[in-house]
Amino acid sequence: MTYVVTDRCIKCKYMDCVEVCPVDCFYEGANMLVIDPEECIDCGLCVPECPIDAIFAEDDLPDALTKFMAMNAECAPRWPVITRKGVPPADAAQWEEVADKYPAHFDPSPAKTEEET
Ligand code: SF4
Ligand code: F3S
Repeated sequence: MTYVVTDRCIKCKYMDCVEVCPVDCFYEGANMLVIDPEECIDCGLCVPECPIDAIFAEDDLPDALTKFMAMNAECAPRWPVITRKGVPPADAAQWEEVADKYPAHFDPSPAKTEEET
């Protein structure tokens, strides 16, 4: 089992989830985070931290969101690890209720490192 970040995170990226992870298995893309399924120890601590309920246990994923299991596994090795909460996007709140953000709004590029910003 693992825990999975879904498309609800896209363009919201609140990052409250990363501070509680005991194994530092969150990875940062340009506009969302993912969890590395190889590293996640299924503690569940991150789930209540997300203010918009973007994180699910693999077994609790609604059918429409199961594709994010593979997406988390593919992106985690390509993105930098994130262990500290940063500043969420200024317009995060307006994206909270937008449905099915993946097709039009997912950015597959890794987050910029501090040297690049
Ligand atoms: Fe980290 Fe636990 Fe969340 Fe897995 S379930 S990502 S180990 S906080
Ligand atoms: Fe995303 Fe929620 Fe974490 S919006 S960055 S999964 S706190």
